[in-house]
Amino acid sequence: MLGEKIVVVGATGLVGREMLRILCEEGVPLSNVMAIASQKSKGGLLDYGNSKLEIFDLSDISFEDYDTAFFSAGSDVSRIYAPIAADAGCLVIDNTSYFRMNDDIPLVVPEVNIAEARKFKNKKVIANPNCSTIQMVVPLKPLHDAFGLRELVVSTYQSTSGAGKDGVNELMFQTSEIVSGNSVKPECFKKQIAFNVIPQIDVFTDNLYTKEELKMMNETKKILDLYDIDITATCVRVPVVIGHAVSVFAKFERNVFLSEVVEVLKTFKGVQVVDDANSYEYATPVDVTSKNDVFVSRLRKHPTIENALSFWCVADNLRKGAALNAIQIAKML
Ligand SMILES: NC(=O)c1ccc[n+]([C@@H]2O[C@H](COP(=O)([O-])OP(=O)(O)OC[C@H]3O[C@@H](n4cnc5c(N)ncnc54)[C@H](OP(=O)(O)O)[C@@H]3O)[C@@H](O)[C@H]2O)c1
Repeated sequence: MLGEKIVVVGATGLVGREMLRILCEEGVPLSNVMAIASQKSKGGLLDYGNSKLEIFDLSDISFEDYDTAFFSAGSDVSRIYAPIAADAGCLVIDNTSYFRMNDDIPLVVPEVNIAEARKFKNKKVIANPNCSTIQMVVPLKPLHDAFGLRELVVSTYQSTSGAGKDGVNELMFQTSEIVSGNSVKPECFKKQIAFNVIPQIDVFTDNLYTKEELKMMNETKKILDLYDIDITATCVRVPVVIGHAVSVFAKFERNVFLSEVVEVLKTFKGVQVVDDANSYEYATPVDVTSKNDVFVSRLRKHPTIENALSFWCVADNLRKGAALNAIQIAKML
């Protein structure tokens, strides 16, 4: 991938900027990267290491001239332009939810199911999963292989950057207003996010789960290729800038032994175990910002429920939850 021509659609967004940072870290030359955003950003400049990258809009691009296209500009843009890029011969990696549950489109976390990425059926499009789902399935994969996953009860603690730059701006603005004694009116989120937590991410569906909760439940089954497990999710927005956390309760077919669990996780690529109650060692969102791995803490076997394990996992949602996962897929292909 390093020698290829790459286009980043949504380059001025939180995911797009992280993508540019990683491409630069990977040594991709500035001349091989095109940055696309909406019309209002056209002509502006973005940091690319110590250099600047000019911003274009979608009317400027001929996808024929590019090998890989990363999309993170929302579902509407992906719906229209991802097929155009794929037809022009680009490998498309899409960060939005638009293609994720399409049977013909692979939904890929490289550590878990990279083989799926090679099974293009109709189009050269690969979907990047939901951010909380990615970080949860990385530790679940080796645990499933070792003990046989049967049931999951999960709650998320998702940072405001998961809602893009508007989400982070709202947290910052509300925090300073409230500290100054002023009242605030929610705009990006449905309730005040500063000094609060909100048990709603994305819209409510007919069965009263939110769309984000259904994404976690359905995408986990597709990625792990496990359609007969029971999963319930509660997704919560918290006043954190970067880093999602997920509290996981998992039941398995076989008995789980903590020492084996730790061994299985420690030897799996992409997972770091940080877990020592005696010295208060556990991962928090602040600890994992700008890190690539998924951090697992608070591992404990349930005292009365058979074959049940609880743990806490944390990752940088903009990196492993989005930009890094997409770039890892492209590199592995
Ligand atoms: N944030 C996360 O943790 C995360 C994780 C996984 C997946 N995702 C998905 O990735 C996508 C982007 O998320 P984000 O957090 O980066 O959002 P964001 O910070 O709001 O950025 C949105 C990006 O889309 C661009 N854009 C909007 N309309 C466009 C158009 N018509 N043509 C071209 N570009 C357009 C924006 O350009 P302007 O700056 O010019 O408006 C900006 O670059 C979303 O679909 C999101 O669901 C996000």
